[in-house]
This record gives sequence, structure tokens and C-alpha cells, in this order.
Amino acid sequence: MGFQYKRRIDYSQYARDEITLIMKRIEEFNYLQDIDAILDKILEEARNLSHADAGSIFIVEDDHLRFGYVHNDTLFKKDQANEEIYVDFSVPIDEQSIVGYVALTGNTIVIDDAYNLPSGSPFTFNSEYDQKSGYKTRSILAVPLYTFHGSLVGVMQLINTKDNDGRVIAFRKKIQDLIPLIANNAAVAIDRGVMNREMILRMMKMAELRDPTETGAHVQRVGAYSAEIYHQWAIRYNIDKQEKNRHKDLIRLAAMLHDVGKVGIPDQILKKPGKLTDSEFAAMKWHTVYGGRLFMNQTSSLDKMSLQIALNHHEKWNGKGYPGKIRDMMAADIRLGPPKQKKEIPLSARIVALADVFDALVSRRVYKDAWSDQKALDAIKADAGNHFDPELVETFFQIFPVIKAIRNKYKE
Ligand code: C2E
Ligand code: SIN
Ligand code: SIN
Ligand code: FE
Ligand code: FE
Repeated sequence: MGFQYKRRIDYSQYARDEITLIMKRIEEFNYLQDIDAILDKILEEARNLSHADAGSIFIVEDDHLRFGYVHNDTLFKKDQANEEIYVDFSVPIDEQSIVGYVALTGNTIVIDDAYNLPSGSPFTFNSEYDQKSGYKTRSILAVPLYTFHGSLVGVMQLINTKDNDGRVIAFRKKIQDLIPLIANNAAVAIDRGVMNREMILRMMKMAELRDPTETGAHVQRVGAYSAEIYHQWAIRYNIDKQEKNRHKDLIRLAAMLHDVGKVGIPDQILKKPGKLTDSEFAAMKWHTVYGGRLFMNQTSSLDKMSLQIALNHHEKWNGKGYPGKIRDMMAADIRLGPPKQKKEIPLSARIVALADVFDALVSRRVYKDAWSDQKALDAIKADAGNHFDPELVETFFQIFPVIKAIRNKYKE
């Protein structure tokens, strides 16, 4: 069977404690700033509540739905860095897919067996993903994500709910009733996450689009590489899951802002189509301090991390980077300081150093051609323990398939 509906749910039939607990867990959505972290958290909570083996979220973008995030306990290793979340595709808002139909009509759809839709179903199930991945979709619960103001933000699709013995079953009525509790709050969080990402991209446009080879795509790549390098590092050190998720959320956004201090560098240096002179490079170094100063108020965790990264992303593990230890960031007679090395450099900045240089090397710049992957990887390997934290270089190589998926998603 499969059916669709729009209806009001009577929550009085469910225990107040149960509803309160769900609302409490949903509150965590509010602590996250970045869209990827928010989508990950929404799927985690929705799957927790529904015992669904898999799920995905699509986000409304113009006249189509863009794939946003996916979980799949059967196909993906639990908690590992995962290239599948960086797949980039969109589906039209129409009857050709279930998520498209949900967006088109605003209806919730419940399907007990995707391969046996009731005859006369107004939508079709697209089995392409199953064919490619070897996954077997059976039961589906697809819900529209509306904000409290009624604007459609996306569609969440939960797949293959399981009973206590791990057998795939149909979505129970209770789950159908409780999932919408998550949906409104999820929509609001997604809206905020999309806006945060856009605000940061706009801010970086001011700083970097002055230099047409430093683009929004570069900034998103550096953010994503940094988040995934951190994720892998956190697994290695058994970092508690909540701390890991919050830190990963912050580092992605803060890393996107690493070069925001370039706003303070004159065009004739920033855009110089050749090698900088010593004095020009000396001026260039100040972009780290200019960037750091923007986040001096430190009102939020995001400000704190943005400061650490903007200020320290050109420090080197061997102490030969810049700007070094600075006593007073606002001093009029400020000078570059004595060297910082090894773990004196904050972890987040050590991570971004690696992410930024890798991306700079394989990209074209006004002053250089793009290097091949192999040449860039060789250079990074050779610089482990010199420029870079050697443990992070190892981490970077462990997740290289994910790095490649990110490059593929955020192309120029
Ligand atoms: P960026 O272009 O984003 O480069 C970031 C970092 O990637 C550089 O930091 C450097 O560590 C690494 N990198 C980039 N290209 C190369 C390369 O061809 N070889 C090697 N070995 N490393 C490379 P760095 O050197 O501190 O430079 C900071 C920023 O200063 C650069 O950011 C860029 O905006 C500017 N810059 C550096 N050198 C030049 C230059 O010769 N000409 C121009 N126009 N700008 C330069
Ligand atoms: C998709 O994952 O490509 C959409 C599947 C569907 O909703 O039919
Ligand atoms: C480290 O520096 O390796 C860990 C401390 C931190 O989180 O910065
Ligand atoms: Fe920089
Ligand atoms: Fe950069």
C-alpha cells in the first residue's frame, strides 16, 4: 500500500514525556550553524525516532530539489568520513520521483513497498539509486519540510524502518505522527544554515572575488576539506560525538573565512600577475592579522574559531610560518612575533593550513598554474613535519577519496 495525506495530528494520544523528550533533542538543531551539520543532525534524530535504516534530505533551490545529505547504515561505515554526502545532483519538482512529488504537492507520502506501488499512483519510484548501490528500498516515509511560516524548504525521505529484530517493516502510524514534530524545526534550522552559508560566501566575495581566481568554490572546498580532516582526526582520538559534531560544524564555516583579511591588501599586490617582491610579500602577510582582528570581540564560538584560523593558517609546524606570537593584536606599533610551532598552533589552524595549501596547489592562481594531484600530494608528503603537522598529513591521505568528492562537488 501507499498513500498520501495532509492532515492535522492529535498529539494528545501520546505521552507528554515522550513529546517533551523529542522536543528537547530537537533543540540541538539550534546550536548548529552550518547547513551540513544541521542536515546530519536532523537525519540522526529522525532516524532515531523512526528506526529507519537510511534517509536523505533534499533542499528546494529555484525550481528543483538539490540533494543535501544522506545517511545509510547498510551502505556506509558508521561515523566514518563519507564521500557520498558530497554527491551533487538535483531532481525536478514533479511526479517523476517521490521527493519531487512531495515538493510539488506538499503531501506526506507513506509507501510500504517501493517496488509495488498501488496501481494508479500519481508518482513513480526512481530505482536508479538502488540499481547503482545495490541497496534495496522497501518502506518509505517522505515528508515536506515547511517552516512555521509555511514556506517549503525541502523534503526529508526516511527509508526502511525496522522492527526490534532488525526486519524491514512498514512505517507505523505512531512514527508517521511523530516525524512532523521534527519537520517544522528542521525546516527552520535548514533555512538558517543555508543563510549562514550564503552570508559567509557573500563576505568572502568582498574579500576574494576581487581576485577572480580565489572563488566561492575555493572557500567551500577549504571548509569541507577542513571539516572532514577534523572528523577523521576526531575518530582517531575518540572524541565524544557531540563535541565532534559541534567542532566539525564550526570548523567548516570558520575555515571558509580563513582569508577574509585579504580585504585589507591593496589590489596591486593581491592581483599581481607574477611573483611578489619581498616587500610585497611582507605586506601580504598582514592578511592573517587583519582577518584575526575582525573576530576580536569573540562573542560566539564561531568568532573564536574564526579568529584562530584567520590568524594562524600560515603558521608552520616547524616554526617557520607567520605571523608568530603577537602580544597585542590592536597595538598601533604591532609587529610580527616570535615563531609559533607544533601544538602552539591551534589544531583548527593546522588543519586549515593543509586544506588551503592543497587547494591552492591544485588550482590556478594569477601567479601560478594548477599542479597535478600527484605533484601536489608529493609536495604535501615532503612537507609533513616541516610545513604541516605530520599526523594531519596522514589523516588527509586516509580520506583522500572524500577530498576528491569535495573537489568534484565544488568546481569552479
Ligand atoms: P594563496 O594563493 O591562497 O596560497 C595559500 C598558500 O598555498 C601559500 O601561502 C603557500 O603556502 C601555498 N602555495 C600557493 N602556491 C604555491 C606554489 O606555487 N608553491 C608552493 N610551494 N606553495 C604554494 P603563502 O605563500 O603564505 O601566500 C599567501 C598568499 O599570498 C597567497 O594565498 C597569495 O594570495 C599571495 N601570494 C603568495 N605568493 C604570491 C605571488 O608570488 N604572487 C602573488 N600575486 N600572490 C602571492
Ligand atoms: C533519489 O534519491 O534520486 C530520489 C528517489 C525518489 O524519491 O524516488
Ligand atoms: C591538539 O592541538 O592537537 C589538540 C588541542 C586542540 O584541540 O587544539
Ligand atoms: Fe591566507
Ligand atoms: Fe586561501
